[in-house]
Amino acid sequence: MASRFYLTTPIYYINDVPHVGHAYTTFVADTFARWKRSRGNEVVFATGTDENAQKTVDAAAKTGEDVQRYTDRMAETWQKTWQKLGISNTDFIRTTEQRHIKTVHELWRRIAERGDIYKGRYEGLYCRGCEAFKKESDLLEGFCPDHNMQPERVSEENYFFRLSKYQIPLLDFYDGHPNFVVPEKRFHEVRRFVEEGLEDLSISRAAREWGIPVPGDDSQRIYVWFEALMNYVSAIGVDAWREHPADVHMVGKDILRFHAAIWPAMLMSAGLPLPRQIAANGFFTIEGVKISKSLGNMVDPLVLTEKYGADALRYFLLREIPFGEDGDFSERKLEERYTADLANGLGNFSARVLALGERASPLDPKTGVDSVIELRIRETRHILEEKTLGYRFNEALAAVWELISFGDAYVNEKKPWETNNMRTIFSLVALLDNVAASIASFLPATSEKITGSIRWTDHTMVVSKGETLFPRMD
Ligand code: MSP
Repeated sequence: MASRFYLTTPIYYINDVPHVGHAYTTFVADTFARWKRSRGNEVVFATGTDENAQKTVDAAAKTGEDVQRYTDRMAETWQKTWQKLGISNTDFIRTTEQRHIKTVHELWRRIAERGDIYKGRYEGLYCRGCEAFKKESDLLEGFCPDHNMQPERVSEENYFFRLSKYQIPLLDFYDGHPNFVVPEKRFHEVRRFVEEGLEDLSISRAAREWGIPVPGDDSQRIYVWFEALMNYVSAIGVDAWREHPADVHMVGKDILRFHAAIWPAMLMSAGLPLPRQIAANGFFTIEGVKISKSLGNMVDPLVLTEKYGADALRYFLLREIPFGEDGDFSERKLEERYTADLANGLGNFSARVLALGERASPLDPKTGVDSVIELRIRETRHILEEKTLGYRFNEALAAVWELISFGDAYVNEKKPWETNNMRTIFSLVALLDNVAASIASFLPATSEKITGSIRWTDHTMVVSKGETLFPRMD
């Protein structure tokens, strides 16, 4: 039986449409999902929308729409965006769905039965941008550095989660699971945060109309993060989670503490197993500037996709930004890579080889593949496997592009258009076929186009030129 692999993206806020930063995490997750599928796993790949936040209400008020209507419309926009970008998610979870609310209530009950929920007074600062409580030390001159806004001072009766009780269990767990958070440097950050001491967490808000009510107390709504994290269980159900929790939660570094400290503590309290790994991507700026709604510098992934194709955007993001590191996005750099690596690199090589193959078709595989090429193919496969599983997507892609360069040099040297040497031509087609297989998880549409041009009939191979993979930008 195929082994199961459960992978998630964060569920995104719906106060705006997706920007290229959200697309990045989703592309990474999609690449990983496709990779696991290609290795025979039965992949459950969930993404979705985080709808119960106060910012949903604020955003709806701006458009003048009824909140539920606004929410439905935005959830559809997000879902459609992922479809247009070719994301292969198997589920899309919305936190206003009944399956989620049911799970949240069940987990709340389990946590309460454990004695980990109590009523107390919360006095402090709350940032609406983060939807999170802040310490004075988190602020820069009184402002939230992530949202450039002043947190509100709140004082109210809330329910609390005994997060402090889980400090030692968490540290013990980290010790026993050295790969729980990747990259490693992010794991150090989380560990330090937990070592400094955990305060109990306020997990409800009074006098809110939007959000999931606290079981047995309609005057309070569950704090959005506390229930949003539970979406990962809601998507597959409590029993399925107990059998097989998430293999990877892909998240941005901004929300790592929630996933690597608070979420595991909640699961421990609820008596459920912990996810196997949290993989945190870095953040990128746009032309050196932080992506922000107020600055209006958000780049729409659909606009880029229309111009360059989804594969080009995926390629650029995965190749340009080493996973886990911060980076910068600019359309100029995207265009440079498009021209150099895609149009002139893969596109040109593929066109050359397919043209040669078409002219020589049908090809007889008995001619065999040149041993130099066979060796290079094997080496590349090996590197690809290791780098991809280690989240080093940029290096994985670099290895494939080295194989392409090798192929280019090989054509130039062997001049098959003069010699008509069938073994050379067959070797080149085999190399291209391997390139296509290697990029299947990274540039899925491109991979399919190439393999569609190489067909086996009986015991011969028939090659056709196919369409231009990456038209030149003028
Ligand atoms: N709703 C919460 C997550 C709840 S998960 C239980 C949330 N949503 S969000 O819409 O703000 O999305 C945040 C995520 O988007 C980040 O964690 C990251 O994965 C991605 N990114 C947003 N901007 C990004 C960049 N500029 N760069 C890289 N990733 C970015 O937080």
